Amino acid sequence: MATSIDIGVASEGPQTLALKRANRHGLIAGATGTGKTVTLQVLAEQFAKNGVNVFAADIKGDLSGIAAPMPEPPPGWAKARAQEIGVTLSSEAQPVVFWDVYGELGHPVRTTVTEMGPVLMASVLDATDAQEGALTVAFKIADDWLTKGATDEDRNRGLLLNLADLRAILTYISDNSDEVGKQYGLVTPTTIAALQRKLLQLEMDGAERFFGEKVLELSDLMRPRADGRGTINLLASERLVQSPRLYSAFLLWLMSELWEDLPEVGDPDRPKLVFFFDEAHLLFRDATKELIQKVEQVVRLIRSKGVGIYFVTQSPADIPDIVLSQLGNRIQHALRAYTPSDQKAVKAAAASFRANADLDVVKAIQELGVGEALVSTLDETGAPTPVARTKVRPPNSQVGTLLLATRQQMIAACDLGEAYKTEIDRESAFEILGKRAQAAASAAAAEAQQQAEAKAASKAARAPRSTPSASTPRAPARARAQPVTPIERAGTRVATGVVNTLARELMRGILGTPRRRR
Ligand SMILES: Nc1ncnc2c1ncn2[C@@H]1O[C@H](COP(=O)(O)OP(=O)(O)OP(=O)(O)O)[C@@H](O)[C@H]1O
Ligand SMILES: [Mg+2]
Repeated sequence: MATSIDIGVASEGPQTLALKRANRHGLIAGATGTGKTVTLQVLAEQFAKNGVNVFAADIKGDLSGIAAPMPEPPPGWAKARAQEIGVTLSSEAQPVVFWDVYGELGHPVRTTVTEMGPVLMASVLDATDAQEGALTVAFKIADDWLTKGATDEDRNRGLLLNLADLRAILTYISDNSDEVGKQYGLVTPTTIAALQRKLLQLEMDGAERFFGEKVLELSDLMRPRADGRGTINLLASERLVQSPRLYSAFLLWLMSELWEDLPEVGDPDRPKLVFFFDEAHLLFRDATKELIQKVEQVVRLIRSKGVGIYFVTQSPADIPDIVLSQLGNRIQHALRAYTPSDQKAVKAAAASFRANADLDVVKAIQELGVGEALVSTLDETGAPTPVARTKVRPPNSQVGTLLLATRQQMIAACDLGEAYKTEIDRESAFEILGKRAQAAASAAAAEAQQQAEAKAASKAARAPRSTPSASTPRAPARARAQPVTPIERAGTRVATGVVNTLARELMRGILGTPRRRR
């Protein structure tokens, strides 16, 4: 197997990416139509060929061609480019597994609400501080039930598998606000109602397909193959990206799972997995400072787990500096500088390369042709190579969207399909809380009936003054209990300090995703 992969050829010579340094992350940037996806495909197919697994979001569906060999004869541009830089095209497909949140263009990918954790769920729901507080309380209650419940049913009440489970626990909180308030801090009904509306919207957007079981197994992204190749996992993202918060939360969840589950390997010969995060600007667009810091932390730490993260976006300015500085392998396609902010982006992109006396980087970035890029990677010693104006090589696989029929055949033939095909719906919060609420309601109704009968009976006896006897069951407390906790007394929503403590307890992973409990 090779020790490096080919990117293309510059006047200085061939430009490569050292597999040993591929876990030092990367950036593929450039304006629309400048060749980013083709570059990604060139890298992905060679990673697979050299035993590195790949996970990539396929935003437009045009990466799927990687599963088919380059047709004979190849398209004119590919032939011309190959000739121009003196590479031979050897038509070849790579092993691909297709995934799709909506289950149409690949095996369904799911995770549970519990696995997402309160921080990412808050981000998916674009929650306000108060709503994030309420979510944290909901997760904490669920967590307490899961860990401290006496019976299976008591424990499983805390299982938040899908959105219905989350809604059920929120309903529980508002139905039992006194009790919950005493233990966890008061959550106002308005906050719960607002969250319920957001959840409904999320469901209407089709996100309920995504939450549930079977949860995506990381090992299924990295199954060893008899031919020693890596597998390319493509996540159909055309539709998913229409819900940008869900899209980025899912990729973040996956990143944090990888970080948490994979063993420490230091600097391996080649990464175990390379993760391409396309449309990366979506991740950072409305991200809080806190989330950015966490992403930076995951990116920094995941390297020693043998995972390389490659962000793909139009301009490097889309990526916060602290994250950008972690990306050692840079491929910069053309940027246009029409507006002052474009010009700023060009300057920023240029500044991110090590100076090269022979190249005016600012000028070059604007002059680059399609399929041409400024390239600087980390060499075997970890030092950045001088930036070189590079003609990117064509891939050996088909460029553009795979024929739908071929794709469906591949999905049907893949042995992973069986396990993920149908959603497993275990008894969880929704069912158990629903059952118990119903039982409580019937008990209350029976009690009310009993009281009514007792009243009628005493009336019939024409008692001059009907006082409830000791044996008369007490009416369910309607009136609000006396405020007990200082938080309740103050009548405020959950105090920030309390939320922080709860959040800390739940934050087992960097992104607050609890450890797997399956
Ligand atoms: N390495 C290359 N050599 C020659 N031509 C290329 C190369 N890469 C891309 N092209 C040409 O540019 C076209 C667009 O490339 P590609 O789809 O990769 O652009 P993109 O930057 O991903 O665009 P978008 O932002 O719209 O997704 C290709 O179909 C091909 O004709
Ligand atoms: Mg593209």
